[in-house]
Amino acid sequence: MSDNKLASRLYPTRIDIPAEVRSQLVVLLNQTLAATLDLKTQAKQAHWNVKGTDFYQLHELFDEIAGELEEYIDMFAERITALGGYALGTARAAASNSILPEYPFDILDGKDHVTALADRFAPYAKHLRQAIAKTDDLGDADTADLYTEVSRTIDKRLWFLEAHLQVAEITGQNGAAGAKTNKQPASVK
Ligand SMILES: [Fe+2]
Repeated sequence: MSDNKLASRLYPTRIDIPAEVRSQLVVLLNQTLAATLDLKTQAKQAHWNVKGTDFYQLHELFDEIAGELEEYIDMFAERITALGGYALGTARAAASNSILPEYPFDILDGKDHVTALADRFAPYAKHLRQAIAKTDDLGDADTADLYTEVSRTIDKRLWFLEAHLQVAEITGQNGAAGAKTNKQPASVK
């Protein structure tokens, strides 16, 4: 069975949400599951490989972020199964379905890791906000509420990440990381 078919596969359930609505919900939730799995592994990648004078606080921050994402993975996967859907939660499924770009493997410095994560948290946050609107339109207040809960913390984490970058971005005083983001990065509106 193709990933597309698996992503919308439904089991019989007594839940009072019509199958045609549930199938749209589980497709969306499977996209979110893939992106969340991808982002969690990227936060771990940063946690393990960050270097520089801020090593310890960034090493800890990235692990805290990865831990939160791990919880969301379980929450999204179990919402899929609660809706009678099939959760696509392997590393290979995540790699082929994620909306996020791969993590850069050639960075070391703390600011570059913070920038790489902020550049991925921003599109992930956008995806969650769009999903709140879509699930609300589909009439599933519970899934919209789940997205809202996660969205609120992801916005906060994007703030935590960007707070490390904003002084350099505003004043233009930074090395490689600042130079890359001076031209109004996509993550800053
Ligand atoms: Fe660790």
